[in-house]
Amino acid sequence: MKIVKKILIVLLLALVVIQFFRPEKNVSDPNDLEAFITQTRPPKDVQIILKTACYDCHTNNTEYPWYAEVAPISFWLDDHIKHGKGHLNFSEWDTYSNKKKDHKLEELIEEVKSGAMPLDSYTWVHGDAKLTKEQTIQLLEWAETVRFIYQLGVRPQ
Ligand code: HEC
Repeated sequence: MKIVKKILIVLLLALVVIQFFRPEKNVSDPNDLEAFITQTRPPKDVQIILKTACYDCHTNNTEYPWYAEVAPISFWLDDHIKHGKGHLNFSEWDTYSNKKKDHKLEELIEEVKSGAMPLDSYTWVHGDAKLTKEQTIQLLEWAETVRFIYQLGVRPQ
């Protein structure tokens, strides 16, 4: 019993100590989605889907919930954001070639169709990010159309 108590105290102390360490927040210029929006022209409904279900992990701006302040959750979220952005970052859309944009949209379609994105751990807490069938279709239709645009090399203004 004594040892259990000791372990609990050590764990509690560790929890207190890690509160002093904070990962850097993913927050930057709020206008950095301009290139992505003007080029891919998502309809209003699709913009809402992307904002509520994808942007927190795939742009340079995350809307943090209150519990993001609490370690170790803060580190866990930071890890998701870094990984997510590493694979796909809408804020850096203009740095991708047309071929890469097309490929990213292809991946987007695969991930959404298979239900892998948005991540389950995200939709557990963000209920509104769980895509309905209708939203999934809207998102996929838009992504397919934009793929043609990049494949044909036309960039809508
Ligand atoms: C909670 C964070 C989070 C959310 C929300 C999220 N993603 Fe991701 N996404 C990730 C992570 C992390 C990866 C890296 C791959 C992995 O670990 O599964 C990723 C990878 C991807 C990839 C690249 C897959 C590949 O093959 O390289 C695409 C495309 C993608 N996400 C699309 C989306 C779309 C579209 C949405 C919204 C409908 C979304 N994601 C929502 C975290 C997220």
